[in-house]
Amino acid sequence: MLRLENIDITLGKGTKLERKILNQLNIDVKEGEFVVVIGENGAGKSSLFNVISGFITPDSGKIFIMQRDVTSTSQLQRAKLISKVMQDPKIGTIENMTISENMAFALNRGQNRGLKLFTNRDRTSLFKEKLSMGNIGLENCLDEMVSNLSGGQRQILSIIMAMLQDSKILLLDEITAALDPASSEVIMKLTNQIVRKQKLTCIMITHNMNHAIQYADKILLLKNGTFIKEYGENDITTLTPFALAAEFDAI
Ligand SMILES: Nc1ncnc2c1ncn2[C@@H]1O[C@H](COP(=O)(O)OP(=O)(O)O)[C@@H](O)[C@H]1O
Ligand SMILES: [Mg+2]
Repeated sequence: MLRLENIDITLGKGTKLERKILNQLNIDVKEGEFVVVIGENGAGKSSLFNVISGFITPDSGKIFIMQRDVTSTSQLQRAKLISKVMQDPKIGTIENMTISENMAFALNRGQNRGLKLFTNRDRTSLFKEKLSMGNIGLENCLDEMVSNLSGGQRQILSIIMAMLQDSKILLLDEITAALDPASSEVIMKLTNQIVRKQKLTCIMITHNMNHAIQYADKILLLKNGTFIKEYGENDITTLTPFALAAEFDAI
């Protein structure tokens, strides 16, 4: 579904500040697979997502989505295939608009035309259907201002908005890091339900070892811009959060 081959990114080339952000990085994600990426701060996790989404063009290497070479396509061209949700729910949603307007905004994403935030009966029923996947009743308050929602509710809305265009690949960058522990568990469980139900191909960055073990089909450990360790399904069944954290610290 998604394949990166020998991706290199160097910043500040030819200067004293020259540094490799991604270094001969390879990844192969199958359709419907839930991959978790862990790694210390500055390892290059967010840069990896920026390369996948087309926000950064690699210096060398190739990116394939569904066997097609998309290395030189723009972020806009990839927007229909790829959705990203970030740590801050405020980035994924628009505060001074209603839930319904936010959904309309998300529906227009990637269509380089003016804003069409109208609602009609078809749209309303589509929005309700999608929102009900969140399992927190968002579908019953379409006219509620997003500023009245909690962080967890906004994050669920962000995820639903991100998937509104039936994108195939979902990138989750520390989506529970800004939430309290209880909301974080609920949001992760709901996210997993949505990903599995929609058969999305998902890469998630997290610092939460429990979440990694609980939800991943594959865990990849990133260090200095390259993957240095992989845990497959069989490894994960016997892996404990404690052991994973210990391996993480040892590297
Ligand atoms: N636009 C940029 N300009 C300069 N340095 C950057 C930029 N983006 C990322 N970096 C550097 O690249 C490295 C990897 O960053 P990042 O991908 O954000 O790591 P992570 O998400 O794993 O914490 C860091 O050392 C960071 O400081
Ligand atoms: Mg990051």
